[in-house]
Amino acid sequence: MHVRRKLVAGNWKMNGSLHQLAELSAIAAAARGAPGVDVAICPPFTLIASAVARGGGIPIGGQDCHHQPSGAFTGNVSAAMLKESGARLVIVGHSERRAEQQESDAQVLAKAEAALAAGLQTIVCIGESEAEREAGQAVDRCAAQLAGSIPELSGDAELVVAYEPVWAIGTGRTATCDDVREIHAAIRGALVDRFGDAGGRIRILYGGSVRGDNAAELFAVDNVDGALVGGASLTAEQFVPIIEAAAHS
Ligand code: PGA
Repeated sequence: MHVRRKLVAGNWKMNGSLHQLAELSAIAAAARGAPGVDVAICPPFTLIASAVARGGGIPIGGQDCHHQPSGAFTGNVSAAMLKESGARLVIVGHSERRAEQQESDAQVLAKAEAALAAGLQTIVCIGESEAEREAGQAVDRCAAQLAGSIPELSGDAELVVAYEPVWAIGTGRTATCDDVREIHAAIRGALVDRFGDAGGRIRILYGGSVRGDNAAELFAVDNVDGALVGGASLTAEQFVPIIEAAAHS
């Protein structure tokens, strides 16, 4: 039985400003008060260096990276560039990118490989759409995304999986604990099948409308090793209760 520390990661998406980095000091204080929990914030690229400087030691990350280290890829940022800017982690394969930028599993896989090779903790997101859930395909869809977008484990950087049902993101609709238990168990099974003992150590986050008032029950679900939090990570007032729920789980 593996003991996995909870990870509570904030995804600011295309939100935030220099002014808003003031939220980081209260978040950092809460993180110091919860030594058994890992806390991270992923602001927009433009805020990473400032967030590193003002983040009170909280790991700061990116929300995407290109799979190549450099080159003629206008508008993109590589994993090595993120690392140089002080980022310690990166999210890849978020459903908003899979939908808006038509990112395929193969592209997400390449990004994850590049991120791990650059030494970044890498959070790979998977999750079914509402139509897929209603058609009874949630487990199969997640299994397919997992098989297609999770890289081989190599080097020292940590791989993390985030299960984010698309219909629960930013909607205020959280998956039920039974839904989450079923999918997280399936993910764990697939990770152990593929990686053996190491698959038991990979953290699996839940994401999708996590808030202070539902975090505790989600963290109590087997194989929920933390949360990827969007809207509720933008202010310390909303994010700190989620850190505290993780600390008490
Ligand atoms: P949400 O977003 O918490 O605002 O639903 C979660 C995510 O997209 O990572």
